[in-house]
Amino acid sequence: MVFGNVGTLSFNCGVTAHLEKMEYVQVHHETSGWVLGQVSEIVRKTNLTVEGVEEIVHGTPVPIDEKEIAVISIVGFRDDRNLLQVPRTPLKAGEAVYRADEDLIKKVVGLHENTDTGAYIGLLSGHDIKVELDINTMVQKHVSILSKTGGGKSYCSGALIEELMKHNVTVCVIDPHGEYSSMKHKGVVKKTIRDFGVSPRGYEDKISEFATDTNINKGAKPLKFTLHNLDAREILGLTNIKNVRSFLTMLRKAVDTLKQTKGNYTLSDVITYLEKSGEASSGTLVSELEYLNEVDVFAEQGTKIDELIQKGRCTVINLRGTPPDIQELIVNRVGNALFELRKMGKIPPMMLVVEEAHNFCPQQGQVACSKVFRTIASEGRKFGLGLTIITQRAAKVDKNVLSQCNTQVILKVTNPNDLKAIASSIEGLTQGMEEEIQRLPIGSAIITGGGVSMPLLVEIRPRESRHGGESVEVIPSRRM
Ligand SMILES: Nc1ncnc2c1ncn2[C@@H]1O[C@H](COP(=O)(O)OP(=O)(O)O)[C@@H](O)[C@H]1O
Ligand SMILES: [Mg+2]
Repeated sequence: MVFGNVGTLSFNCGVTAHLEKMEYVQVHHETSGWVLGQVSEIVRKTNLTVEGVEEIVHGTPVPIDEKEIAVISIVGFRDDRNLLQVPRTPLKAGEAVYRADEDLIKKVVGLHENTDTGAYIGLLSGHDIKVELDINTMVQKHVSILSKTGGGKSYCSGALIEELMKHNVTVCVIDPHGEYSSMKHKGVVKKTIRDFGVSPRGYEDKISEFATDTNINKGAKPLKFTLHNLDAREILGLTNIKNVRSFLTMLRKAVDTLKQTKGNYTLSDVITYLEKSGEASSGTLVSELEYLNEVDVFAEQGTKIDELIQKGRCTVINLRGTPPDIQELIVNRVGNALFELRKMGKIPPMMLVVEEAHNFCPQQGQVACSKVFRTIASEGRKFGLGLTIITQRAAKVDKNVLSQCNTQVILKVTNPNDLKAIASSIEGLTQGMEEEIQRLPIGSAIITGGGVSMPLLVEIRPRESRHGGESVEVIPSRRM
């Protein structure tokens, strides 16, 4: 029952049944009808004193009187126009508080189960209600998945990608660690207390994997780029040469000549040309280019975009084994190609998923692909190019990009700077939720946006396919 001083935003009630933090309750309001509330805190009041503790320790039993009190935040109700409202007058003391009815939760929170455009991401914590994020909203308004390392970002993004694949949405994953090709294989769905209704499934038939280094990433198709569209300055930008100016003329001459005589040219051609030119200072440039050439991503024939991106399929771009500077360049080229081709309608509307986004669109400093992410984040929605940003350092991701991500999946975060960055980018995040984020167990997330009207605590569903990001043990532990 409601007791004590009653406010319009929250109230206290006595607890006589099992009740957990974040659970939903309902209570009747005299003019608004059934109102939904959420448990924000539970206190157990006891009469045990420190003296009593001493007595118990010394063997004298002391009767303990205890009562549970819950603090409930009012979520609201739907009015006759189906708008979310909160009552403008306090509830009456003595009103009974019940565990909320599933239909009321769904109605007030705005959840719809088994819809055509919903991505099933998990169950509402404490209730058997599926949380489905609207795929159109996610593509149009972008997604971010944030947590500290090991918080479950890749696991969760995998679940999201499974849903996109099931709905035949075209996906491209930028995968710096080679974690996503495991989605081709069936996973193991462990028995849990809660039944998520998930059965193992592999997505071999839906995934195309491309890798920059096919020696260590067997089974992937090679990803190649022509040098065709790179000018001399861009090539120099890929090298470690600081004094760009002194080599620019030399390289420009080589590139221009090769363009005219050969059309499609490779780095080897540039190297041969420079060596033949006999210029005394070309040595440094040649050795830098030889380093690039070893990376093996530049070739006469590049991977065709219509081979790379196919309607309804998920392309994994596996960058494992490729140096960061080259990764940035590749991501830049892929990002630009997707944006331009999407603009012209030459590829289907799609989702671009970026792991380790702090490396590709950092808040501080510029990398090769910084600009393209700003462009996709701000203009992608017009063209149906969605972005999913995954990072363990929210504070280190370009604010211009992160602030455009309207669907946020927040797993456990403890770093104060990251918490600040997250809190400042979410609407409707209460103080209580900020505390909650630091204490989230693995597998739970606070999700906002995605067509849902308020932040929700969600237990992420198990994966159908195999998760590739398992931690490596230094000393193998013996599992019971
Ligand atoms: N929802 C979940 N259910 C079960 N296990 C999970 C879940 N999320 C994460 N894990 C476990 O936690 C580990 C770390 O998750 P991962 O997604 O690789 O972390 P991150 O990408 O944030 O560094 C995984 O190996 C996985 O086994
Ligand atoms: Mg990860």
